[in-house]
Amino acid sequence: MFCLGIESTAHTIGVGVVSEKEILANSLSVYRPPAGEGIMPREAADFHQQNIKMVIAEGLKKAGVGLEDIDVFSFSQGPGIGQTLRISCIAARYLARKYEKPLLGVNHCRGHVEISKFETGFSDPLVLYVSGGNTQIIIRQGQRYRILGETLDIGIGNLFDVFARELGEKAHGSVIEKLGEGGEFISMPYVIKGMNFSFSGLLTHAKRLIGKAKKEDICKSLMETSFAVLCEACERALCLTGKKEFIVCGGVAQNKKLQSMLYAMCRGQQVRFGVARNEYNADNGAMIAYVGMLDFLSGKRMEFSECIPRQNWRIDSP
Ligand code: FE2
Repeated sequence: MFCLGIESTAHTIGVGVVSEKEILANSLSVYRPPAGEGIMPREAADFHQQNIKMVIAEGLKKAGVGLEDIDVFSFSQGPGIGQTLRISCIAARYLARKYEKPLLGVNHCRGHVEISKFETGFSDPLVLYVSGGNTQIIIRQGQRYRILGETLDIGIGNLFDVFARELGEKAHGSVIEKLGEGGEFISMPYVIKGMNFSFSGLLTHAKRLIGKAKKEDICKSLMETSFAVLCEACERALCLTGKKEFIVCGGVAQNKKLQSMLYAMCRGQQVRFGVARNEYNADNGAMIAYVGMLDFLSGKRMEFSECIPRQNWRIDSP
């Protein structure tokens, strides 16, 4: 059995092909906004539309299967940018109709969580999901996911992207990571409320320091302060739930400093720490195909009328 999944929640157009046992292909193409700009939804959607055929062909070639061999199609139904979400939705609807196969919409956040469990072999972890739009502490309870704590304003990835743009750099967390390597720590606002946290005050503070402190120092302190907040919230969640496995996933999970700080926290709590390879923490189609396969095998079916984008679909909503 094969499932082909298409991802298009933001800047990545990705296609994955999986069988019941393994990931066979993970192909993608990434829209890059002009320097100093964020994602332009219309431009990103046009990029996806122009590249989707090529990415599907590449994925099928890598997997060594044809479209006629696919048993289930899945797509990233949300959360994400309305215009870009439509591209994977329309393409998957077309393919499912043409080949008369089932179609399933997949929650993007759940894609990151489940493929990380597959990669690490963990069965019941506490999960920290860190990306541009989301920062959440998640557990699974039966068939539902529960959010134990989350950002009260912006996602941590957004904090780094916006600050990188303020510095006139490419809007990407890797810029902050690189600059922060050589800096000295300076004190910054530390906002935590139980297992919830906030980053917008930290962003304002960092912006006001531009020109007054070295940018390397600001980047290092921005990272270490926000990561310390996440470590404290996750440690609290681990003590509350008694979980013995911990996963960090999502785009910002690729940050080595964050990984090392969370690893140290987990060691202190005698909890196993796991993180998937970078290709699955970046946006990708393989996780959409993987969850599509999981859902299909567990008996989930969707009507075509239900297969429409859900821009604000939270992981804790059915
Ligand atoms: Fe993502």
